Amino acid sequence: MATLIDGKLIAAQIKADIAQQTKDFVGDEDSGTGYGVTPGLAVIIVGDDKASRIYVNNKKKACEEVGFYSEEIALPAKTSQKELLDIIDNLNKRVDIDGILVQLPLPKHLNEKTILGAISPKKDVDAFSPFNVGRVMIGEYRFLPCTPAGVMELIKSTGIEISGKNCVVIGRSNIVGKPMAMMLLHENGTVTICHSKTQNLAEITSKADILVSAVGKAKFVTADMVKEGAVVIDVGMNHDEDGKLCGDVDFAAVEPKAGFITPVPGGVGPMTIAMLMKNTLTAAKIHAAAPAKRNPKK
Ligand code: GUN
Repeated sequence: MATLIDGKLIAAQIKADIAQQTKDFVGDEDSGTGYGVTPGLAVIIVGDDKASRIYVNNKKKACEEVGFYSEEIALPAKTSQKELLDIIDNLNKRVDIDGILVQLPLPKHLNEKTILGAISPKKDVDAFSPFNVGRVMIGEYRFLPCTPAGVMELIKSTGIEISGKNCVVIGRSNIVGKPMAMMLLHENGTVTICHSKTQNLAEITSKADILVSAVGKAKFVTADMVKEGAVVIDVGMNHDEDGKLCGDVDFAAVEPKAGFITPVPGGVGPMTIAMLMKNTLTAAKIHAAAPAKRNPKK
């Protein structure tokens, strides 16, 4: 029987630590400690995707919990690229905003690459802009993308050493699969990325000491695909045939075989938000150390 990795608990501990750090960062005017400014996160949501609405609400709630200022910019689905770029440009310039996040997916008429590339790298708390993607690649980053960063925390919580282990990532998205593989590589894992064109998938995954699934298909990972005692991390957020939230992993079948496993919900999901809070505080610290001029000389 596997040990359950409690993402909800670990995320709560990280958020409690961030709340304390935020208190110290803001400080106290009377005693003259801290910077006297509150970390600020702007979240842009375009259209009315139901899942995005839930994620954005959860992000705003987490900001409240840790003591950040948060601002939601909810835009209609028909918002033009120019309008969105102007809004991002304005947020890039605002001194009270440390982090900017554009919730994905965007409506089809908007060019995701252009939009993400317009966010100032210093405020790109998702680490999705090309500049920060490159920094993650070379291991010289200020921000790590939130979901894979959360997965790394969960793996580390097991006490299992990543170095030298067979690590298999299923899924090659820019948001999860690719940066996940890079982070495991930085920790000296031997990494394989599998995807929809991979042949003999089960043969590869069943050799994984650490298996991360980010596919988006309910019950995709079955017991025959998992090595006895493996660490199994489920990034999936799907709905089963009864409409119940579930991950990529057939939990009931895989759990008896795995060494450690994340549940859905309560595994990776809460960690993504905790990592977003961490990145926003990091951004606020960077800005406080080198503040933008309010009236810069031309
Ligand atoms: N959509 C799904 N996951 C994410 C995420 O981590 N960040 C953003 N901005 N959009 C998402």
